[in-house]
Order: sequence, then structure tokens, then C-alpha cells
Amino acid sequence: MSDVTAAGPAVASIEATEVEAPVATEEVVVLDYGGQYSQLIARRVRECGVFSELLPHHAGLEEVERRRPRGLILSGGPASVYADGAPPLDRRLLELGIPVLGICYGMQLLTRELGGRVEAAEVGEFGRSQLRVTEPGRLLAGLPAEQTCWMSHRDTVFAPPPGFTTLAASTASPVAALEDTEHDLYGIQFHPEVVHTPYGQAILERFLGDICGCERTWSAASIVQEQVARIREQVGEGRAICGLSGGVDSSVAALLVHRAIGDKLTCVFVDHGLMRKNEGEQVIRAFRDNFQVPLVAVDAEQRFLDALRGVSEPEAKRKVIGREFIRVFDEEAARLEGASHLVQGTLYSDVIESGGGTGTATIKSHHNVGGLPDDLEFELVEPLRALFKDEVRAVGAELGLPDRLVWRQPFPGPGLAIRVVGGEATRERLNVLRDADFILQDEIRQAGLYRELWQSFCVLPDIRTVGVQGDERTYGYVVAIRAVTSDDAMTADWARLPYDLLEQIASRMINEIREVNRVVLDITSKPPGTIEWE
Ligand code: XMP
Repeated sequence: MSDVTAAGPAVASIEATEVEAPVATEEVVVLDYGGQYSQLIARRVRECGVFSELLPHHAGLEEVERRRPRGLILSGGPASVYADGAPPLDRRLLELGIPVLGICYGMQLLTRELGGRVEAAEVGEFGRSQLRVTEPGRLLAGLPAEQTCWMSHRDTVFAPPPGFTTLAASTASPVAALEDTEHDLYGIQFHPEVVHTPYGQAILERFLGDICGCERTWSAASIVQEQVARIREQVGEGRAICGLSGGVDSSVAALLVHRAIGDKLTCVFVDHGLMRKNEGEQVIRAFRDNFQVPLVAVDAEQRFLDALRGVSEPEAKRKVIGREFIRVFDEEAARLEGASHLVQGTLYSDVIESGGGTGTATIKSHHNVGGLPDDLEFELVEPLRALFKDEVRAVGAELGLPDRLVWRQPFPGPGLAIRVVGGEATRERLNVLRDADFILQDEIRQAGLYRELWQSFCVLPDIRTVGVQGDERTYGYVVAIRAVTSDDAMTADWARLPYDLLEQIASRMINEIREVNRVVLDITSKPPGTIEWE
């Protein structure tokens, strides 16, 4: 998903170039047959130090060949190889002279194509399964004879194609791994990329190292080196601007570009007054004082509050904030003479979601603050375009970004305004919410839970409730605590925070914030709820 911290304004309808593989790095291509874990395969390959791209299964032979990959992985997928319209395998992909590893559906495709027997089994095999290695071969060499693995299939391979050796069986699969070393073709029925397959990463390492002969040079340090050279070449004598939000994506993008072109980059930080407590100062301190990045910090709080006056409908709030943000950014950009390039923190997951890295990509605008007008003529610089979020964090750490920024939870572009729920985001309400949020974050950090949570925040509904404090009747605000775990914000579960911690948070909020007299906990998962309330 895109950077929910809103790495500056989104630019809709700009032609995006595809991801360019780092020149000096070896690559393994993952062909995506629609499996739930396809992205994860590419991530795991990269964790082994080998650059990997995910291409749609229909990308075509040329697209694959052009990358000169050291190996090819065929992912899992939901279809049955016998179903009408099931994604097919282009036989020529097996004849490129590079090792091919089929995973789940990928292995079944390979088996069927080469004359093995794949059939629908009476029972499927879903979840944990026991793998018995009968012949380690090349792929499973050095690994235990008995291991747990994670399965998710109904069709089953009953006989390998001629020339193949069966390496292992599982509870319900007579052929759970196979190989033909002469033609460098390999297959596993289980999923090596998920954590429930404890030796999965070791199997991938065998494939990448011993079989593909990859050198494993992909690392945060190599990414920095590569990107710095690339950015220098792209920007040339030009100048760049970057909208800084305080989120990890825009921060890392800005630092990379600064490392490359120094003071020819100017960052613009629009403080819309909807940030969390001290957040604006932290961004300014980190970038201007610590990294000495030329930074224009615009205090636009009053302007945003004026624009938000009388606005309580959620989408209207987003629109007002988006519009105002563009105006401010636009005014600042116009003041910077000769800016030719605009830096954006687009991530690889955005690229994949919008079309698999080939062809044009439209950057999602919903999660960003707004869109820049089409007539702004900037060339885009997107140094994170080939990176997954965890790699962006590693690059941030490599560049010396403070932990607080590297590990910051996502924060929506419209900020606290969409957490003053059902009412107008006034200065008074925003301040109450900011104080409550500060206590929540403080306690969660102290409890060591901050990184485990996808997001933790407070919501301030536009209602008041009756309470009693010190023999006096009170009529105050309700603060709702929302804390969720999630991998990608598409689904989320409410976090089971310890009761004692909740008590401490609630009592601090009521004692320290005069306007608050009640604290509640949101225990809704997504779906059916959304993470934010508005
Ligand atoms: P929901 O509420 O849709 O949120 O479950 C999913 C993720 O998106 C973030 N979010 C936003 N981010 N502008 C943003 O930049 C927005 O308008 C916006 N709305 C939701 C939310 O914080 C969560 O991480």
C-alpha cells in the first residue's frame, strides 16, 4: 500500500517508468500466478541478498529475458491447472538456460507441462503438514529428513515428469518436492516463504546460492550506493523539491536524494497543525539541524483551521485538507527557483498494485494528501520505487535516520482532523486529542509495544458524557483508544493490550487532561470496521 504518512502530494496521471533493476545486482524473477504469498516470495529472496522482481505471469518471455535473471520462480496461485482459463506456462521459460523453481501451483504447472501426473485429490492439504525427505537431491541437501511445512492445495502431483526425481512426500502429497538437475528444474508443493515452513528460507537459499549461483550483494548499503548514482544522473544540473511529512517513506526518499545532490534538494514541510504532539519540531530538528537538509517549514495551522471551520463530514474534511495542502505546497514550490524534479516516496508495493511494474502506473491518490495540478512540470524522482517497506526502513537506518522516524507507525495525511469524529476539528478539540494521543504513545512505547502495533491512536468523538470527579459532576469528552495489528492495513485485528496498561493509560488521560472524563477501547477488527473511524 502507499505511504499512509502521505509523502507529500500525490501526482495523479503522471507516466511512471517501470522499476529499473539495479545495474550491478543479480536478479531472480518471480512470476506471479495470483498466489496470496507471491509478494512475500520476492521479499524473502531479497532477504537472502538477491534482488527480485515480481512480474505478472503474463508479462511475457521478452520481459523476463530482458532482466537477464539468474533464476526464475513460478509462484503459487488459486487456480487448478485443469480449470478453463487457468494461467498457463510458456514452455520457453523452461528453456532459458536458468534454474526454475515452481512453488505450489508453479510446481503443478511445471509437472503437467513436462508430462507428470497432477490430479485433484480426494482431500486437500491446507495448513501445517509433515514433510519426509526421501532423497535430498540438490534442492534439499543438508536439510533435516523430517520437517514441518505449510501447504495450501487441492490438486496434487502423483507422479513426476520423466527425468525428475521425487525428493519428498508429505502427509497428503506423494510428491511434495522434485527436481531434474540436468535441466535445472525444481519444484516444491509447500510454501517456503511463510514462517510456518521453518526451513523455507534455507530452501530458498539453496536455490539462490548453490543452484542459481547468485552472489547475494543486495543490501541496504548497496541500495544507497546504487540509488545515489542513479539520482545524480537523473537530476543532473537540475534542482529537486520534496514534500516531507515526517513519515518514513518521504523521509528516506529525501535523505537519499540529499545524499546524491546535496543542497540542490529543498524539502518542504507543511505543518498543517494536525500533527501529533511535537511531531513538527522533530521533523524540523532531524532534517534541518541534524542532516542539514535545506528545509522550508511552513506553519500553516491557522490557514487549515480556518478552512476546516464548519466542516464535519469526513470526506469533506479530506477534500478541504487536500486542497489547502496543494495550495500551500504550490506556493512554496513557485518560490523555489529552477526546481525541475519532484521527489516522491512511491514504494514497490504501490508499483505492483498498479500494474506489476510494467507499463504505466497511476499513483493511488486516496492515501495521500492530494494531487498536484497537471500543469506543474516536474520530473518525478522515485528512489524507493523498487523497495519494500522493510527495505525502506533498513535504508533509513543505513542513512542514519533516527529510530523514531524509521519505525514510525503510519499516520494519515489529513492527520488528527479525521480523528475528531463526527464534528468539526477545532483547535480546542485537536489539543485535547493531541494530549490524549501523547499519553497513549508514551505508555505504549514504555511498554515496548510500539513496533508490534501497526497503529495505535486516539479518537475523539463529538460527544460528551457525565462523570463524577472529586465529588463534582463533570461533563467531558470521551477518548477512544484504537490499537491494531496488521501487515498491510487491508485487514487488521484489534490489539490485545494488557489490562494493566489500559488502566494506566485511562487513568493518566483522565487525571492529566481536564476535559476528558471517560476512556473507551475499540475492539473492532477490519473488516467489518476500518482502522480509522472516519
Ligand atoms: P482504513 O481506515 O481505511 O485505513 O482502514 C487504512 C490505512 O489508511 C490510513 N488512512 C489514510 N491515510 N489519508 C491517508 O494518508 C487518508 O485519508 C487516510 N484514511 C485512512 C489509515 O491510517 C490506515 O493506516
